[in-house]
Amino acid sequence: MKAVPVVALSRRGGLVPRVWRRDVAAVLIPEERLARRVRALARRIQKDYQGRDLVLVALLSGTLVFLADLIRHLTLPLRLDFIGVSSYGAGTVPGRLVFTKELKLDVAGRDVLVVDDILDTGRTLRRVLEKLEALRPRSLRVCVLLEKKGRRVEPVKADYVGFEIPDLFVVGYGLDYAERYRHLPFVGVLHPQLLDGAEVVETERGSARNGPAARHSAGRTARRV
Ligand code: XMP
Repeated sequence: MKAVPVVALSRRGGLVPRVWRRDVAAVLIPEERLARRVRALARRIQKDYQGRDLVLVALLSGTLVFLADLIRHLTLPLRLDFIGVSSYGAGTVPGRLVFTKELKLDVAGRDVLVVDDILDTGRTLRRVLEKLEALRPRSLRVCVLLEKKGRRVEPVKADYVGFEIPDLFVVGYGLDYAERYRHLPFVGVLHPQLLDGAEVVETERGSARNGPAARHSAGRTARRV
């Protein structure tokens, strides 16, 4: 895989738009940079899957903005399906992973590309990949917008990665904190005091339960096309 842009929390981020300054401490990846990188990822996917009929499986709900932008750059034949995974936990402790939405399409013998927002510990993707592998796709690959490299507890690898980011809890461009901030057009970091004392019992993955210090989890290496 070609080099993945590494993002640091520094000057590269840019100014926080005035309207978000009360909540957002820093912009990690500005809108224009996201747009450029998503276009580049789409170009690679387009090239790699040329002549194939792709099934794109997106994980709910953090992928919504990334997915919408990515697929609009693709012209190859594709079908879209969704898997829902929730974590049942409390406070900042990641909980048990439960599937809340199952696949509708039959992926047996198909080229499947899993799209997720962020690869952190790898636990979520591991569970998802195990489930998909059991359905005997022709190939199984993974595309994530963000990756936190040092945090992996499961040996999951992504074939397409937008950005490598530091170990920070990020929001925006689909990623939430307690179901908020998904609609930020950039990826940013919240003021730390907003993250403190998160108390959530049940959320879609990536919510308050994950707080600043806790992360999620699950992994297996994707089969090559
Ligand atoms: P794991 O640890 O299973 O985590 O690889 C993957 C899922 O955890 C969520 N996640 C985050 N969500 N900001 C978020 O809004 C983050 O910094 C973050 N880190 C992990 C996310 O749902 C991802 O799919």
